[in-house]
Amino acid sequence: MLKVIGIVGSPRAGGNTEFMVETALKEIEKKGIKTELITLHDRNIGYCVGCDSCKTTNKCIIEDDMQELTEKVKNADGVIMSSPVYFGDMTGLAKSFIDRLRPLRNVHAFKYKVCGAIATGGFRNGGQETTIHSIYDFFLIQGGIVVGDDRPTAHFGATGVGNTSEDEIAITTCKHLANRMVDVLNKINND
Ligand SMILES: Cc1cc2nc3c(=O)[nH]c(=O)nc-3n(C[C@H](O)[C@H](O)[C@H](O)COP(=O)(O)O)c2cc1C
Repeated sequence: MLKVIGIVGSPRAGGNTEFMVETALKEIEKKGIKTELITLHDRNIGYCVGCDSCKTTNKCIIEDDMQELTEKVKNADGVIMSSPVYFGDMTGLAKSFIDRLRPLRNVHAFKYKVCGAIATGGFRNGGQETTIHSIYDFFLIQGGIVVGDDRPTAHFGATGVGNTSEDEIAITTCKHLANRMVDVLNKINND
């Protein structure tokens, strides 16, 4: 069975980002694909120290929760990465997580993964798109297959403002992102 994981890059439990990821994953589940929501706020994730040992061993020397999380990413068919906007970009927590996934790059683990992004901020034009672009950079450098939200919205993934449980555009773009990911996942894996 295909599986999509949704990673919540907020340091806050049960916040606006988490709501959006949940919304997207629920939509994906409706289409018969297994999902798992992964929060980072409750994990021990150190930052990459740039020792480069992963370039020869394909493993990270730091022993923390990233060993388990790296396996989860490696085994997923689709990955949603999300973050609230912090000063126009992703949170430090989200960036640490992304940097620590470097061991997967050597083995081209993202080659056939369908990748989507979610960002939310306190303000309209607060940096949702710049945050999403940073997440897209990560996916592209990992060699993943990046998709945005589906038509008719079809822009830069899923974006929210303020309380996302009351933000119709946040909810709609999360659902459209989910639909687009399912569409491409099925095309790659079943057709
Ligand atoms: C340090 C910090 C920086 C922030 N910078 C921005 C920003 O640049 N643009 C914006 O729209 N919101 C900004 N915000 C607001 C958050 O993105 C917003 O409250 C978001 O809904 C939090 O998501 P969460 O509930 O998932 O943690 C910032 C919040 C913090 C704590």
